[in-house]
Amino acid sequence: MTQEYINKNKNRFLNELFEFIKIPSVSADIKFKDDVLKAANFLENNLIKIGADNVQIFPTDGHPIVYAEKIIDYNLPTVLVYGHYDVQPADPYELWDSDPFGPVVKKTKIHPEGAVFARGACDDKGQMFMHLKAFEAMYNSDELFCNVKFMFEGEEEVGSSNLEKFVRSNVELLKADVVLVSDTGIINNTTPSICVGLRGLSYVEVEVTGPNRDLHSGLYGGAVANPINVLSKMIASLHNENGTINIPDFYKDVVEVSNLDRKEMAKAPFNLSEYMLDLSIDNVHGEDGFTTNERNSIRPTLDVNGIWGGYIGQGAKTVLPSKSHAKISMRLVPNQNSKKITELFENHFKKIAPEYVKVKVTPHHGGEGVVIPTDFPAYLAAKNAMETTFGKTPIPVRSGGSIPIVPMFEEVLGLKTILLGFGLDSDVIHSPNEHFGLFNFFKGIETIPHFYKNYANLML
Ligand code: BES
Ligand code: MN
Ligand code: MN
Repeated sequence: MTQEYINKNKNRFLNELFEFIKIPSVSADIKFKDDVLKAANFLENNLIKIGADNVQIFPTDGHPIVYAEKIIDYNLPTVLVYGHYDVQPADPYELWDSDPFGPVVKKTKIHPEGAVFARGACDDKGQMFMHLKAFEAMYNSDELFCNVKFMFEGEEEVGSSNLEKFVRSNVELLKADVVLVSDTGIINNTTPSICVGLRGLSYVEVEVTGPNRDLHSGLYGGAVANPINVLSKMIASLHNENGTINIPDFYKDVVEVSNLDRKEMAKAPFNLSEYMLDLSIDNVHGEDGFTTNERNSIRPTLDVNGIWGGYIGQGAKTVLPSKSHAKISMRLVPNQNSKKITELFENHFKKIAPEYVKVKVTPHHGGEGVVIPTDFPAYLAAKNAMETTFGKTPIPVRSGGSIPIVPMFEEVLGLKTILLGFGLDSDVIHSPNEHFGLFNFFKGIETIPHFYKNYANLML
């Protein structure tokens, strides 16, 4: 029995996850290139050990893609499991209470059974590893009811540019019936949910140049434009008083969600005072006319992610800097096109630049949003699986995050994706002290086999 196998091997599963997490596979930083490869090799070895076939590491122009499969019967449906073994940089290190690559289990209020603290524990090593262990349990218990293909990439956190090339040139290899991904979350451990929407992303970097060199802020200040002052003003002008974004045509392709759907969404449990308390804020802020959960899921946004320039060392240095910079992300909703939005931004930003500065806009990676239907077999299989393991019907929820490969799978492979994630918002992915609950890790391993079984039954 799959469940018995899981119960017997829990400790080993966790120890293996620790070994996986210890490898600092930071994709953004070239310093960690060998470690990213090490993480790919770890997966390769583990996939071989658990009985997967055709295990391969495909090199790319960046970090490698790990592929494996188990084809048990051509008449059965095939599940393509995707995950990413790369992680976000751990910086700033000093804000971690423990070594980001030295996983430890600690109890928290939200995770009384304990949670694994480490970079990647939740996003996405812990979550993708659930799939290997669920497969191991099903296969060793003679209860694997679907064919499986695994595809794991090492570049999700830096835009998946090589995965797209790989998928486009391996359509036959990746032939499947549905994509299964655990890289999102649930509302809380007693309120299961399934992510049915992701936002798109347009990410740009801007540079404002004033004078050709740094100047004495006394001798020149007041007479020559300060690029930091100018950039601040330009950024401030990007939002209107009512919280909407002040770029012409920005909302042109936005599909308004119907009042009925908004009403349905509002049924998901949410406590605004707890939300504010958790963040130590006295009020929330956003687009007028929308609730907090609408603002962070069905509405597009524009945010400065970083801003710098001038003197930021100790003490005071009087300087009028030559340049200022900012990194700006725009979260998009389905039907907005990330390339088009990037272009709108670039044109607008150049247009509002006063003649006393020069402006450069550099686009970074982006991607499209997606909405996943709730009335096709794979969704029902996921819903029933969670119903079995949580004892409650999962709520469909649209998330504010982005996974740009999901719409790409649909475009290139014609496949829909099921986002069967088990993380919590409070697991602080991308931040110091990221963690993943033991409850969530094992609940995932337990739920996945039910998905396979339900899906096989529904597709017969
Ligand atoms: N797993 C996250 C996205 C996510 C998390 C979606 C939680 C929904 C719920 C993913 O690894 C991620 O961080 N994506 C990036 C975009 C990517 C292009 C770098 C993001 O959303 O910022
Ligand atoms: Mn992720
Ligand atoms: Mn991430």
